[in-house]
Amino acid sequence: MQNVVDVIVIGAGAAGMMCAATAGQRGRKVVLIDHATKLAEKIRISGGGRCNFTNLNTLASCYQSENPHFVKSALKQYSQFDFIKMVESYGLGYYEKTLGQLFCDQGSQAIIDMLKAEVDLGGVIWRMDTGIVAIQKTDTGFEVITSRETWLCSSLVVACGGLSIPPIGATGLGYEIAKQFDIPVLPLAAALVPLTFQPQDLWTDLAGVAIEDTIVSCGGMQFREAILLTHKGLSGPAILQISSYWRAGDSLEIDLLPDVDFDEIWVAANRDALISTILSERLPKRLVQAWMAEWGDIKPLKQYSPKELLAIAESFHCWRIVPSGSVGYKKAEVTRGGVDTQALSSKTMESRQIAGLFFIGEVVDVTGWLGGYNFQWAWSSGYVAGLNS
Ligand code: FDA
Repeated sequence: MQNVVDVIVIGAGAAGMMCAATAGQRGRKVVLIDHATKLAEKIRISGGGRCNFTNLNTLASCYQSENPHFVKSALKQYSQFDFIKMVESYGLGYYEKTLGQLFCDQGSQAIIDMLKAEVDLGGVIWRMDTGIVAIQKTDTGFEVITSRETWLCSSLVVACGGLSIPPIGATGLGYEIAKQFDIPVLPLAAALVPLTFQPQDLWTDLAGVAIEDTIVSCGGMQFREAILLTHKGLSGPAILQISSYWRAGDSLEIDLLPDVDFDEIWVAANRDALISTILSERLPKRLVQAWMAEWGDIKPLKQYSPKELLAIAESFHCWRIVPSGSVGYKKAEVTRGGVDTQALSSKTMESRQIAGLFFIGEVVDVTGWLGGYNFQWAWSSGYVAGLNS
């Protein structure tokens, strides 16, 4: 039997729920289809269970895309402040952790419950635990054959997300749908992801050591946040951020002591003290020991020549390292690349070639920084597609 609706949304994640709620509340008849049994697992695990749901400082420049202007219209039509208003209207509390990042006091489940309530307000038909078997173009729209039934619609919204964390439901369906309709998909890569090093560069003994304030640079971008040494390489917010800009073969440049003037340190220090003792006031002791061991025996400050001290300072200010890769989609927060924005209207998210076909959220070639930007993109793109589908 065929069921007829106005809008089919594939993917009941962040973007899909926002879109279905918006379209449903406009009076459109909507079905929201997802193959997962549990709703919005990515929101549930986000922000360490507290969902970093947006960022106060959301700007187009916080997103990566072949077309850096693409995000502007959707972010303007539905901003971080619009989402905050919704959160407040549900009586939820939130707090700013750092750098404008907003987290939910009541935890991620409260955000999921809020979105579910908005979807229900729109009278949307839910189809969880439902696989997509085939999609076809019809004269008036689309036919979607699912593992339960067949649906007909005039608008089809693809909100299947990216490839990160397959065990909680990520698949490449969104990219496959784009290809089926000859819509270009730009190269995909794991992003916001820990980076790995060649065996000779590993500091496995130091796994778990964090350096709170660093500047990590690559590809013309730099981020000033913490880094974390791991068994495989480096992680921590500054590394996750730069991973989105890193390409195979690029080196990272890391300033382990930004703003620190080593000349002042050497002048102020006791010249009989071991250099490791002096530096351990500013960096984790285990790291300093291992770092200075690379320079031979650890000696009192007075035994180092000015040239050696200059080189030591330079090594802390400019640690250059070439990652071997990343830990991949199993740990990546997002997928970089995706449906080419050239093929979509930035105002509506509708395909320029195929009327009635929309792509929203992570499946599109829009990758936000770490810190609530990716959810904001899901809300904004979902909202505009909901208004126009
Ligand atoms: P999303 O992945 O949310 O939803 C896609 C939906 O499509 C899923 O429900 C999936 O089951 C469904 N689907 C996939 N394939 C399907 C198929 N073949 N058939 C049917 N359904 C299918 N961002 C942020 O801003 N703040 C944060 O705190 C975090 N934290 C975070 C932690 C972790 C561990 C991860 C992995 C990611 C984050 N993110 C984040 C990123 C954020 O989760 C992500 O950008 C959004 O969820 C993307 O929203 P979408 O709706 O596009 O995809």
